[in-house]
Amino acid sequence: MAPSILAADFSRLGDDVRRISEAGADYVHIDVMDGVFVPNITMGPPVIKSIRGHSSLPFIAHLMITHPERHLEAFVESGADIIEVHIEAEQDDLRATLREIRALGCKAALAVNPPTPIEETYPYLQDMDLLLIMSVNPGFGGQSFMPQVLPKIPAAKAEMRRQGISIPIEIDGGINLGTGRQAAQAGADILAAGTYVFKADDMAGAIDSLSRSADSKD
Ligand code: DX5
Ligand code: ZN
Repeated sequence: MAPSILAADFSRLGDDVRRISEAGADYVHIDVMDGVFVPNITMGPPVIKSIRGHSSLPFIAHLMITHPERHLEAFVESGADIIEVHIEAEQDDLRATLREIRALGCKAALAVNPPTPIEETYPYLQDMDLLLIMSVNPGFGGQSFMPQVLPKIPAAKAEMRRQGISIPIEIDGGINLGTGRQAAQAGADILAAGTYVFKADDMAGAIDSLSRSADSKD
């Protein structure tokens, strides 16, 4: 369970991060947007640094930015534990970016947008610790889940087996009880959810029901 703080109350972000941490989240999912790779602008390393002390959970920095390689050290220094870069983002050398993330002591993840074939990630699997499959076009919270991305999950798992590796798959966008269960049944390991968690009256209840729904086999 990785609540996306894009849907948090930015005027009291530290409190919201503390609340999800106490409510049973496993990660904090942080959406970084640059207004170039996606139309929206959100937050960067100073904001991550300011909330780092409010949670001991691993921080996932989901970088929806061009040239992520120029900012890796800043994100590592701000307290990110897992850094996700997009395969679609303009950058010097994607493989070098993934390796640099690891060299800096973080886990490296590759994110793939709905229109991008999952096969394009396969040459990079050995250089990754996590695969992020987007179930909306990135840029905004509160969008509808795109079920057509679901077959990417078993396809990626099969390719991982073929390559003799097993890395977790995170799914991001439009996750609620129903879509979370569908994604989990398809094999997703981590659910990123913004609106569903932060707009709930009972945040702990929302995280708990989402994780129970994902765990149930029927
Ligand atoms: C979309 C972001 C998502 C988003 C999820 O660009 O990467 O993490 O915040 O929000 P919901 O759960 O509202 O779709
Ligand atoms: Zn995200």
